[in-house]
Amino acid sequence: MLVRRFAWGLMALLAFAVAGYAIAISLVDDLRTPLVRQLFELQPWSAWGHFLGGAVAIAVGALQTHTMLRNRWPALHRWMGRVYVVAVAAGGLAALAMAPQASTGVVAALGFGALAVCWLGTTALAVIAIRQRRIADHRDWMLRSYALTLAAVTLRLYLPASQIAGISFLIAYPAIAWLCWVPNLLAAEWMLRTRHARTMLPRTA
Ligand code: HEM
Repeated sequence: MLVRRFAWGLMALLAFAVAGYAIAISLVDDLRTPLVRQLFELQPWSAWGHFLGGAVAIAVGALQTHTMLRNRWPALHRWMGRVYVVAVAAGGLAALAMAPQASTGVVAALGFGALAVCWLGTTALAVIAIRQRRIADHRDWMLRSYALTLAAVTLRLYLPASQIAGISFLIAYPAIAWLCWVPNLLAAEWMLRTRHARTMLPRTA
C-alpha cells in the first residue's frame, strides 16, 4: 500500500512538472528553446494544441488514475475523463502534424508518429468501451492510454541520461523516440495481466 502510494505520488509529481513546463513554454516567450521557438514559427496551431493539450492530458490523467478520487467522486471522474479525451485528441492530432518534422529525421519521425497513432487509438477504444458500458475494458484502455501519455515524462528522463552517458544527440534522439513509449506500453500490459490473473475477471476483449 505504502509502495503504491509512493509510486503514484512520484508519477503525479513528474506528470505535473512536465505539464508545468509545457504551459510555461507556451505562455512565456523567453523560456522557449530554439526547437520550441521553431515549432511556434512553423506550426503555431500544432504547437499550441500539442503543448496545452498534452499538459492538460498528463495532469488530469494523473488524477484519474487515483483510485480513491475515482471511487469517492464518480461525477468528477466522468467530467475529468471528458477533459482528458479532448486534451488527448488536441495533443495527439497536433503531434501527428509535428512528427514528420521531428529533429534528427525519419526514425524519430516514425517513432513519434506511431506513438501519436497509438495514443489516439487507445483513447478512442477507451471511449468506445465506456459508451458500450464495458467498464473493465474502459479501465484497461485508459491505463494503456495514460502509459503512453507518460512518454512525455520518460522522454525527458532518458534525454539527460543519454547526455550524461555521453551518447550523441543524433544517435540518442531517434532511439528515445521509440524507447520513451514502447516499454511504457509493455509495463501497462504486464500490470493488466497481473491484475487480471489476480482478480480472475472474465475478459471480453
Ligand atoms: C504521447 C504522445 C506524444 C507524441 C506523439 C508527441 C510528439 C511530439 C513531437 C513530434 C514533438 C516535436 C519533437 C521534435 O521536433 O523533435 C514534441 C515536442 C514536445 N512535446 Fe510532445 N508528444 C506527445 C506527448 C506529449 C505530452 C503528454 C506532453 C505534455 C505536456 C508533451 C509536450 C511536448 C513539449 C513541451 C515539446 C517541445 C519539446 C521540448 O521542449 O521538450 N508531449 N512532442
